[in-house]
Amino acid sequence: MSKAGRLVVLVSGSGTNLQALLDAAADPKFGANVVAVGADRDGIEGLARATRAGVPTFVEKLRDHPSRQAWDAAIAAKIAKYEPDLVVSAGFMKILGTPTLERFTVLNTHPALLPSFPGAHGVRDALAHGVKVTGCTVMLADAGVDTGPIVAQEAVAVLPDDDEATLHERIKTVERSLLVEIVGRMAREGWSVIGRTVRIGNQSEGESK
Ligand code: GAR
Repeated sequence: MSKAGRLVVLVSGSGTNLQALLDAAADPKFGANVVAVGADRDGIEGLARATRAGVPTFVEKLRDHPSRQAWDAAIAAKIAKYEPDLVVSAGFMKILGTPTLERFTVLNTHPALLPSFPGAHGVRDALAHGVKVTGCTVMLADAGVDTGPIVAQEAVAVLPDDDEATLHERIKTVERSLLVEIVGRMAREGWSVIGRTVRIGNQSEGESK
């Protein structure tokens, strides 16, 4: 079973999920620490939050590389430098390539109830579809767009006068708590993955490790 003491968190924007993890990690009982924060762009609040918390940061921009493959390799190398037990993609708006996915477990958070509304506009797409309930999903990343094994989900009601911003804000409140809970449990209790089933904590008797 794997355990997650060292976290590398990847961000592309405001970093409120990162902040929730930084705040939780201030308590040693949480069981995990953010050892670095990576981004695909600079000048974002997510990086500023890391710097204020004294956490090292790195930036790997796609446009600074001759190909997607070169970027994939470069970001994997930057992540590897910090020897994480778990990589958390918390509002990181790029699909990670095989150099990262083959080497690390990557936990991802998404503002919709997957498999509905994957991609960069989960909140907008759910609203446009007219769903009455949406929510957030914490899952393991695989090579697809939000297609990896689901770890946890929580529902959020869509209100009649919601727009993308109001709905996303309510989802993010739920999402931050769920992400902190799942990362903390993975760190303290360990996890295993069998097919599409992610199990946190003690495995049932007789099951192989
Ligand atoms: C979060 O709602 C996260 O689920 C979403 O971006 C937001 C980041 O917020 N990610 C995606 O839509 C990825 N498909 P934050 O920067 O304040 O943590």
